[in-house]
Amino acid sequence: MDVSVRFLDDLRDAVGPQHVLTDADVVAGYTSDWTGRFVGSTPGVVRPSNVVEVAAIIEACRRADVALVPQGGNTGLVGGSVPLAGELVLSTERMTAITDVDADSGQLTAGAGATLAAVQTAATEAGWRYGVDLAARDSATVGGMIATNAGGLRVIRHGSTRRQVLGVEAVTGSGRVIRRLDGLVKDNTGYDLAGLLCGSEGTLGIVCRARLALVAPPIGVVTALLGFADIESAVRAGGLLRRSVAGLEAVEMVLAPGAFLVSEVTGSSPVLDPIPPVQLLVEAVGPPDPTDSLSAVIDEVDGVLAVAVATDARRSQALWHVRDAHTEAIARVGIPLKFDVTLPSRRLAGFCREVVDAVAEVTSRSQTWLFGHLADGNVHVNVTGWTTAEAERIERAVLARVAEAGGSISAEHGIGTAKRAWLTTNRGTPDVEVMAAIKRALDPDGICNPGVLLPLD
Ligand code: FAD
Ligand code: MLT
Ligand code: ZN
Repeated sequence: MDVSVRFLDDLRDAVGPQHVLTDADVVAGYTSDWTGRFVGSTPGVVRPSNVVEVAAIIEACRRADVALVPQGGNTGLVGGSVPLAGELVLSTERMTAITDVDADSGQLTAGAGATLAAVQTAATEAGWRYGVDLAARDSATVGGMIATNAGGLRVIRHGSTRRQVLGVEAVTGSGRVIRRLDGLVKDNTGYDLAGLLCGSEGTLGIVCRARLALVAPPIGVVTALLGFADIESAVRAGGLLRRSVAGLEAVEMVLAPGAFLVSEVTGSSPVLDPIPPVQLLVEAVGPPDPTDSLSAVIDEVDGVLAVAVATDARRSQALWHVRDAHTEAIARVGIPLKFDVTLPSRRLAGFCREVVDAVAEVTSRSQTWLFGHLADGNVHVNVTGWTTAEAERIERAVLARVAEAGGSISAEHGIGTAKRAWLTTNRGTPDVEVMAAIKRALDPDGICNPGVLLPLD
């Protein structure tokens, strides 16, 4: 997209000349996504430090009819954070302040560019904990996590990002500043605009700050790795654990091929050796100390082939490793096609079997990796070893099975550019028409991430 000298001058006036990057080598770092699958180009990267500057950028974009892509940590996995049609990049990397930490109410205010790890540290220092965790914690930002309504490893207990957000400060595509950062736990004064921005993927406006609710810190953490012969047994175990263990926070699944890969790529010895076909990583927290109650329930679980338990942080990390390292290990094999789907629990095991065969029917050279958040019915299907000519057929094979099984094509990563062609199939025309009407109301000029989420007209 060509932009005028006048437009770039307006941006420089808004944020200061040193925060409008146009050098080709420098901006190249903002144009490809984490997977390497989505690569674009941009006339510039603008780095505001606060809401006033963001509003000025939006104004300049509207005047010049220039579209922008908001970018936080650029760890998104659906091609939504990069300028694929030559858009301007608005980076939140300077908006990192964490302020107004309130140890009494368990709340803090975080800038959109603050990383998840920084929020977690601030919460811990205040005697609390942040309810969301995911492996990209050192890079993923508050703005990106709100925009994608990120889920992660503790959704069964604390919910996705939307549940942590008490209010936001944001600039809509129409240039309006909305701000509710008082942290009112109860507030039924009209539409929940913060909730609407959760999962909006930068298509309605720019999140600048958020008031986040914290959760009580755990006292006593027990982590267990359980081995099973098949996914059916693991699903049944997940159900029993959920109804029997009060402080259950995580029930994560990995399969043998992924566990072998993690061992190979990271040079680590598997905790469960021999590696069983299916492993569940289970974590429960107190108070009261959950060790005895979790052990008692594990004794009741049918079909357990092997168990490892950890009650100290170092050993717990060793158990988590096989799960946490999956995304990076798969990316080392090749650029993955990533699917992030939810299935009804009763269809999960069948789907996992069928989807591997379905992909193999398209191309026998590819490898399909399955892992995910078993308790949420959320499976990550990753395919490596594909060619561009095969990508669409693989996509169809996977997503058609999801639709047929009554599932969702995006459990937690969003639609981005990768899944937009499938949104109507999954949500239906009325839902998508309402979404488009909301988009028109908040972003009438279509300048906010126009290539993302909503299907092409
Ligand atoms: P980006 O990638 O920069 O952007 C993501 C989207 O948000 C884009 O559409 C972008 O335009 C928009 N956006 C960014 N900032 C703003 C803003 N301030 N205002 C408006 N829109 C904005 N996701 C999960 O849900 N669960 C997981 O368990 C999980 N694990 C991961 C593990 C790894 C190793 C990796 C690489 C990714 C993982 N992800 C996971 C995906 C990713 O981390 C999340 O989607 C995260 O929320 C993205 O945050 P980000 O700051 O990197 O956003
Ligand atoms: C995860 O649960 O590890 C993620 O959502 C990342 C991925 O899907 O690779
Ligand atoms: Zn996930």
